[in-house]
Amino acid sequence: MKKSTNEIRQKFLNFFEKKRHVIIPSSSLVPYNDPTLLFTNAGMNQFKDFFLGQKKSNHPRIATIQRCLRTGGKHNDLENVGYTSKHHTFFEMLGNFSFGDYFKKEAISYAWELLTSQNWFNIPQNKLWITVYENDNETYEIWKNIIKVPPERIIRIGDKNNLKYNSENFWQMGDTGPCGPCTEIFYDYGAQILKNSLEFLENKNNRFVEIWNIVFIQFNRISKTKIISLPNKCIDTGMGLERISAVLQDVYSNYNIDIFQKLIKNISQYTIIKDLNNVSLKIIADHIRSCAYIIADNISPSNEYRGYVLRRIIRRALRHGHKIGIKENFFYKLVSNLISVMGDAGDILRQKQEKIEKILETEEIQFSHTLDKGLKILHSEIEKTHDHILSGKTAFYLYDTFGFPIDLTADVCREKNIKIDYISYESYKKKQREQSNIRKKFYKNYNEDIIVNNTCVFQGYKQYKVKSLVQFIFVKNVSVKKIMPNEDGIIFLDTTSFYAESGGQISDIGRLYNEESCFIVQNTKKYGKTVGHIGKLISGIIKVNNYLYSEIDRDYRHSIELNHSATHLLHAALRKIFGENISQKGSLVTDTHLRFDFSHHKSIERAQIQQIEYIVNMQIRNNILIKIKELNLEEAKKQQAIALFENQYQSIVRVVFINNFSIELCGGTHVKRTGEIGLFKIINQSSVASGIKRIEAVTGQKAIDYLHKKDNYLEDISLFLNCNSFYIKEKIKKLTVTITDLEKKISILQEKENISHIKQLIKNIDYVQDIKFIKNIFYNYEHKLMKKIVYQLKKELKNSIIILININNNHFTIVIGITKNLINDITAIKIMNIIMKETNGKGGGKKDIAEGGGVNTKKLSIVLKNIKVWIDTQLKKNNYL
Ligand code: ALA
Repeated sequence: MKKSTNEIRQKFLNFFEKKRHVIIPSSSLVPYNDPTLLFTNAGMNQFKDFFLGQKKSNHPRIATIQRCLRTGGKHNDLENVGYTSKHHTFFEMLGNFSFGDYFKKEAISYAWELLTSQNWFNIPQNKLWITVYENDNETYEIWKNIIKVPPERIIRIGDKNNLKYNSENFWQMGDTGPCGPCTEIFYDYGAQILKNSLEFLENKNNRFVEIWNIVFIQFNRISKTKIISLPNKCIDTGMGLERISAVLQDVYSNYNIDIFQKLIKNISQYTIIKDLNNVSLKIIADHIRSCAYIIADNISPSNEYRGYVLRRIIRRALRHGHKIGIKENFFYKLVSNLISVMGDAGDILRQKQEKIEKILETEEIQFSHTLDKGLKILHSEIEKTHDHILSGKTAFYLYDTFGFPIDLTADVCREKNIKIDYISYESYKKKQREQSNIRKKFYKNYNEDIIVNNTCVFQGYKQYKVKSLVQFIFVKNVSVKKIMPNEDGIIFLDTTSFYAESGGQISDIGRLYNEESCFIVQNTKKYGKTVGHIGKLISGIIKVNNYLYSEIDRDYRHSIELNHSATHLLHAALRKIFGENISQKGSLVTDTHLRFDFSHHKSIERAQIQQIEYIVNMQIRNNILIKIKELNLEEAKKQQAIALFENQYQSIVRVVFINNFSIELCGGTHVKRTGEIGLFKIINQSSVASGIKRIEAVTGQKAIDYLHKKDNYLEDISLFLNCNSFYIKEKIKKLTVTITDLEKKISILQEKENISHIKQLIKNIDYVQDIKFIKNIFYNYEHKLMKKIVYQLKKELKNSIIILININNNHFTIVIGITKNLINDITAIKIMNIIMKETNGKGGGKKDIAEGGGVNTKKLSIVLKNIKVWIDTQLKKNNYL
């Protein structure tokens, strides 16, 4: 008897209970107290602090069934959903964990016993393959000598691109956090069985499916480049419930397991599609699960952050509903069936069923107003593309006006084999963001009216985390005693590690927290002598007089510092090249880039840009210690420190020294040594006003990413042109010459072809009364050539009406010409209007010539026949004879 998914869940828990594990419930899909994570993406998330040794677990062994979502952040499967058999947005992860208790040997033995023992899952041993991290010999030996897996079925997996720990067998929770080498167990679906399986053919190369990942958590990743060892060796395992169910139910696709089949059948009642393998049905089945569970965890659709992930998934599902012809609002109706299908895991949905249904229904009603219109535009734009690329402008228009998330547009395009110009899409979005920042500024200024009699000591030059006392809280601009979960507000402290936006440097982000509460700081602003921490409370309650830790996001701060120190270097380099007279007219220092405006009347040559880069990078390579001193203003002036003379300075000023190369008054934060900047690259220069130039640049990893992107472009182009990237220019020159030659030849040939068409048309000439009547349907001809023919015929034949049509794919275009002598009795535009009315097309023009087109190609021949009759009647009416 095959086990149901619900039974498999229970068996897993029974097994680990027997192995003295404490079973604890799944945590929320919204990670508690962890701003590094968008959604819970693995069973281990809720135990992050235990792994890091920051808290001690009451139980050294735990097992869970965790709700997980992989749609954004480090682990993102959204695009694959529906197109592969093994990916989902939402899934359940079965996991067992050890916090400094058992390690490799036991973890591996437990997994093996559960999978292969006759008392448990009873999978034949020879169906299982193992991967281990390349130099993890200990794990290799355990599999070989203790478990007795034949060595040919144990595969070592190394690092990719020579980057340490960049391996399928090194698991990490996110860009930071617990991580370690892992060993994975794969199920072999077998070459023979799969040969005949349609499912397998659709999912080439997936004969081996990973079913269980056992991670040996030993490290904490601090940043992209830094990993430190952890005090305890821990175990974190994860087995996708849907995958193991597929194995145990003897099906290949997860979508063929019991729960998905029930969901898909239920959805199919709303459509005429009866093929249960239909991709849209699968996508909807997947998406109703994720949407229902996200809402159950208290997220509502919105335009930002988690709410936007939810909105994107809902809208994608609705689009697929539309695609398979569902006409009614259906998505919310799937919830009750989902609850019954999910067994024990449906309880949390049951408790919130009404809320989930209401939210889904509202979102569906709202989106259905624009979905249809937006899709029409998208399809028509797709038809128009010549190069299989949808313009960024269209993608942005759909996003901005019709609420089409970019992945929805991408999903439609993918079906038509069209790519999106993401770069231009992003630049439209950026422009919009900039405009909305201006609007936000107004809002912030409004907030600035808040008067707080308080002084906040900034300790963030030296400390990233300080203990602070809450002095005031504002919610909706009103001073309150406490702030509640999910409320936006501004918190004022006696002391802080947060840098408030000033001097061009953007503010820090991070969190204010204690054991019960966590407030995410999205912005920090000065209010007189104090600092407002602007953000949202995500858990607990914060009250005035509470103590909190104010802790900034260090990586974010560091990225800002790279750009700030680089701005000083840039400023000094500009003075070297263009003279001391240039003056700073503004700057912006963010975590992603820097921008520097300065007075300069001439244009900047490419060689000068390279010279600036050369000078700045030289200072970076010199790895100069950046010294910061507090001096009185007079002393600072003596040192010839650069200052913005429009500014009023205090008598004591902060001066940033980068040797003698750059000495500048500055209140911002900086790297310790210039070498940390790594690389400085100018990415743009422009003129922002008369006599004011702007330079934009990136540093560190961003600079490398930028160069890689350029390299990739070049590489792609050279692959395309089949030449070395240094020969691209030559190659393009040659191609241009060839193209001009070919165009000439083509035009001669077309001329010939046109002449032969004209001859043929004249040969088959027809008459309406004594008027020459020429009509013809071409297939896949060029509209402009056809138009030429009409002009030519009009010239050559007196007293004639010419109607030519070209059908291309499912479209047609039409040109109508009438010799001038007839236009008092009958006009081209009149004939065009009649044809367009019959075919639902669009056209326009003048009395003697008109053009149009449409999609209703089937009606054309009959319309042409009728038109002749109509012309005849018309002429008679006008007593033409
Ligand atoms: N945390 C590990 C994973 O998600 C087990 O694969």
